[in-house]
Amino acid sequence: MYNRRNMLLWAATTVSVAGLCAMPAHAQDSVKIGLILPMTGGQASTGKQIDNAIKLYMQQKGDTVAGKKIEVILKDDAAVPDNTKRLAQELIVNDKVNFIAGFGVTPAALAAAPLATQAKIPEVVMAAGTSIITERSPYIVRTSFTLAQSSTIIGDWAIKNGIKKVATLTSDYAPGNDALTFFKQHFTAGGGEVVEEVKVPLANPDFAPFLQRMKDAKPDAMFVFVPAGQGGNFMKQYAERGLDKSGIKVIGPGDVMDDDLLNNMGDAALGAVTAHLYSAAHPSAMNKDFVAAYKKAFGNRPGFMAVSGYDGIHLIYEALKKTGGDTNGDKLIEAMKGMKWESPRGPISIDPETRDIVQNIYIRKVEKVDGELYNVEFATFEAVKDSGKTKK
Ligand code: PHB
Repeated sequence: MYNRRNMLLWAATTVSVAGLCAMPAHAQDSVKIGLILPMTGGQASTGKQIDNAIKLYMQQKGDTVAGKKIEVILKDDAAVPDNTKRLAQELIVNDKVNFIAGFGVTPAALAAAPLATQAKIPEVVMAAGTSIITERSPYIVRTSFTLAQSSTIIGDWAIKNGIKKVATLTSDYAPGNDALTFFKQHFTAGGGEVVEEVKVPLANPDFAPFLQRMKDAKPDAMFVFVPAGQGGNFMKQYAERGLDKSGIKVIGPGDVMDDDLLNNMGDAALGAVTAHLYSAAHPSAMNKDFVAAYKKAFGNRPGFMAVSGYDGIHLIYEALKKTGGDTNGDKLIEAMKGMKWESPRGPISIDPETRDIVQNIYIRKVEKVDGELYNVEFATFEAVKDSGKTKK
């Protein structure tokens, strides 16, 4: 809604954000990162994982890069995009941050995009997964994932493994719609049939009534996307409704089987097959060290959000090394394009065309290993790019 007060506020912000751009980079001897995360509310597990991982990284690598001290300013947006926008404005205008980073959900990442463009500073997306995000500003770079990366692969896997009828349950907002669209494209192209399709609200979903509909539809499997943090509650209700006993296996992107919650889901989770970027059981030396260090520092295993945060801060450090500490946003974005490194999840890079993450996607099955539940990887698709931007 346009009104006079909003227009004045908007004008004031535009002027001050624009004013910032003229400030010479060498005027600062510290580099400031405005980290906006959901530390409270339904998405708080995402915020905690990313905040923890950044703390761990900085503890391991130190807090000085290219002669500049790194200062992280953490703000809690509770995953509410109006808060994200206000906090991003304050961080840019008052704190004069050189990066904005974090963003636990798609609406938050999108809300900050115009501000990154105006201020000409990198927006490093460490959680949100809708394909369009990187198209919303030339200053956005993503270290998390897209739902298209995993949902296309699990759609093909379902067909190859004799699954003919699927019921879908997806969270009713942008990444849920991406997951559903890309899964259906691949599953139905292979001859599969979607027999029931339900969308659940993002906030405090009660899965029970939907699960009854799933059970009645008698599918071979159910395709599930709920965002990180909701898988535990989902699987509890899935078991309570007896879906595990009726042989309806869970498949999907791996968000529902987040390592952060998986070990408390109980045996109902056994056999769930998901496609995803990260498993705490990923068998590389680097991941073993990462999991051990994270557990030692925080008492629990890292999930995929922790890894996305760990890689996000790594990208910021490496870009600063490349620019020799120059915080000019255009130079930092150029430095990030095409960057490649080994992550606890495996080899990753930043696509120089789209500024989106390129990564392996693993197909995994929940199994018990030494008495604990893990997503055990059994197939790897290498260097998967986001296909969501061109197909839509
Ligand atoms: C998103 O809002 O983009 C999002 C959040 C959590 C997920 C996946 C996607 O696990």
